Amino acid sequence: MRTQVGIVGAGPAGLFLSHLLQREGIDSIIVENRSRQYVEERVRAGVLEQGTVDLMHRLGLGARLDQIGLVHHGIYLRFNGSTHHIDFADLAAGKGVTIYAQHEVVKDLTKARLDSGAPIYFEVANTSIHDFHGASTTSHAKIRFEENGDPRTLDCDFIAGCDGFHGICRPSVPAAALTVYDREYPFGWLGILAEAPPSSDELIYAYHERGFALLSMRSPQIGRLYIQCKPDEDIAHWPDAKIWQELQIRLAADKFTLTEGPILQKGITGMRSFVVEPMQFGKVFLAGDAAHIVPPTGAKGLNLAVADVQVLAHALVDFYKSGHRRLLDAYSATCLRRVWKVQRFSWWMTSMLHRFSHDNAFDHRRQLAELDYVTGSRSASQSLAENYVGLPLDL
Ligand code: FAD
Ligand code: DHB
Repeated sequence: MRTQVGIVGAGPAGLFLSHLLQREGIDSIIVENRSRQYVEERVRAGVLEQGTVDLMHRLGLGARLDQIGLVHHGIYLRFNGSTHHIDFADLAAGKGVTIYAQHEVVKDLTKARLDSGAPIYFEVANTSIHDFHGASTTSHAKIRFEENGDPRTLDCDFIAGCDGFHGICRPSVPAAALTVYDREYPFGWLGILAEAPPSSDELIYAYHERGFALLSMRSPQIGRLYIQCKPDEDIAHWPDAKIWQELQIRLAADKFTLTEGPILQKGITGMRSFVVEPMQFGKVFLAGDAAHIVPPTGAKGLNLAVADVQVLAHALVDFYKSGHRRLLDAYSATCLRRVWKVQRFSWWMTSMLHRFSHDNAFDHRRQLAELDYVTGSRSASQSLAENYVGLPLDL
């Protein structure tokens, strides 16, 4: 088999890249080790930046998003029992975010690609990448995998490593060529999906002495809520009643009632910041979680993956049109400028809103002062708003 760009992973990064290339007449093939149903049902992120929403529309894939997405023009920060609105409409030039689950994005992109006749090989096994060390496209890179037990080889000009944090592309690059920047946080998030109408019109980020809590949603009927927990917490220790009890305490405020309902799904996610530099080696371009992880506070992971592949698609289109490698060679540096700003924002939101076990009373007062400042100063709220709705994309 032969294609121009071989894509490993049918998550948001791989799927968006395939569409961006397809509309410019560049051929790609996606290989994915999970089943279509698994990737379409995997519950993850839910907040789309304006730029991600705009891209869905540009690709002609905005119909369901327009139908069921919830446009939000702000968030609430809650601490010391009081609630403060960060008004994006006012502070971020009218921009907003849209609540639309990651797996709905994945469904839209997968269906459109398969309907167009372009391939995604699902449930492949033993994916590996080869012959990618030299940058020249006179020789081909290879993706090897098994389809229903049969070995396949895909020859390609370039490999897009869109295979997430636990994928094979990043570990296939010689370790000496990469520098890793890493930080683990001493807590995780316990997240639930609940058949409970959201108790707020917009998201509530709550700082509480018992730990952070977040009220989010997926639809007018379905709530998505999170509480800070121990990183190695056993979900078995969290029966539904205990989760609601903890949410009631951490989200409590004057004139606020948290509506409860049956919990449909629950899980625990660890929190880390991670960046690998550079994001390119020879013919392999890493994008999305394969290259970086942010802690979820601020909802940036999915949006950052989408930003990477817009840079990559732009560079590949330029290469195939002009033969010049200038933008391809600049791919890593271009992406990393945004990656580090988003890392900073996600780390800052996380540090401001969570309780750290090593912190003392001074740190707690400092966190409250920071929240007071952010909600009281127009320039500080504006900085939060500008980052939350998404920084401009630099191609
Ligand atoms: P992924 O979505 O991970 O896609 C990678 C794809 O590659 C997967 O489909 C995987 O199956 C496939 N793959 C892996 N290995 C191979 C292989 N060897 N061969 C072929 N295919 C392979 N972000 C937020 O902003 N808010 C959240 O609430 C949030 N919650 C999250 C919860 C969890 C449990 C996780 C893991 C992440 C969460 N994130 C969240 C982060 C966000 O979902 C990711 O940043 C986003 O999925 C990145 O997209 P991606 O395409 O780069 O990677
Ligand atoms: C959601 C996740 C986030 O990390 C966040 O900051 C806001 C919302 C969500 O899953 O809805």
